[in-house]
Amino acid sequence: MEENPFVFGKAVEGSYFTNRTKDAEHQEANLTHGINTILNSPRRWGKTSLVKKVMANVIRPDIKIIYIDVFSCKSEYDFYKVFASTIIQQTSSKIEEWMATAKEFLSRVITKVAFSPDSIQEYSLSFEFPAKDDAEDILQLPERIAQKKGIHIVLCLDEFQQIAEFQDSMTFQKKLRSVWQHQQNVSYCLFGSKRHLMTKKNIPNI
Ligand SMILES: Nc1ncnc2c1ncn2[C@@H]1O[C@H](COP(=O)(O)OP(=O)(O)OP(=O)(O)O)[C@@H](O)[C@H]1O
Ligand SMILES: [Mg+2]
Repeated sequence: MEENPFVFGKAVEGSYFTNRTKDAEHQEANLTHGINTILNSPRRWGKTSLVKKVMANVIRPDIKIIYIDVFSCKSEYDFYKVFASTIIQQTSSKIEEWMATAKEFLSRVITKVAFSPDSIQEYSLSFEFPAKDDAEDILQLPERIAQKKGIHIVLCLDEFQQIAEFQDSMTFQKKLRSVWQHQQNVSYCLFGSKRHLMTKKNIPNI
């Protein structure tokens, strides 16, 4: 049987990604020039595929693009855990450095850091936080790592509309805004499929 040239049901990568050359160029220019971006469309229009395509194209020592899917986050607390662990893992290739980074920048908020599972290839990092009021350290983590490493970080947050489901979401969104708007070394690409959340009044500098 011949191989099906199309992929359905998940984001496409590599040679399965077709056309959209202009979109990809435009998106790449935004991400590599530190421009905050919002990608909003109905479901299945190709947002995730487009961002992953751009990520694969941008291989530069001075820019680190980090992809975080917030779909599974049910609360602000979940968001912080995914946010912190992904950023630490993606900005360092050495596992020993993960612990050092967590200690250096998050010692005020984190009570426990754990590695799992045991397989070396699939190490992942998990955290426990006592109080979410101290979350500013977590939101500042990408800025601090970017400063220390002398790089620019681009954070791509997929399924961003999910944060509207969090308890007291407006307060959380304001917190994001107040921290993000002062960051110099991090830019944000928010994408998802609900327009109301992703408008100018909620997101800084866009
Ligand atoms: N550039 C492309 N070339 C070929 N197929 C594509 C392309 N972009 C998207 N597709 C097709 O569309 C489907 C949906 O793409 P994708 O998951 O990237 O969309 P999405 O907007 O992120 O969807 P959702 O809102 O559900 O997350 C893919 O499974 C694939 O079949
Ligand atoms: Mg998607």
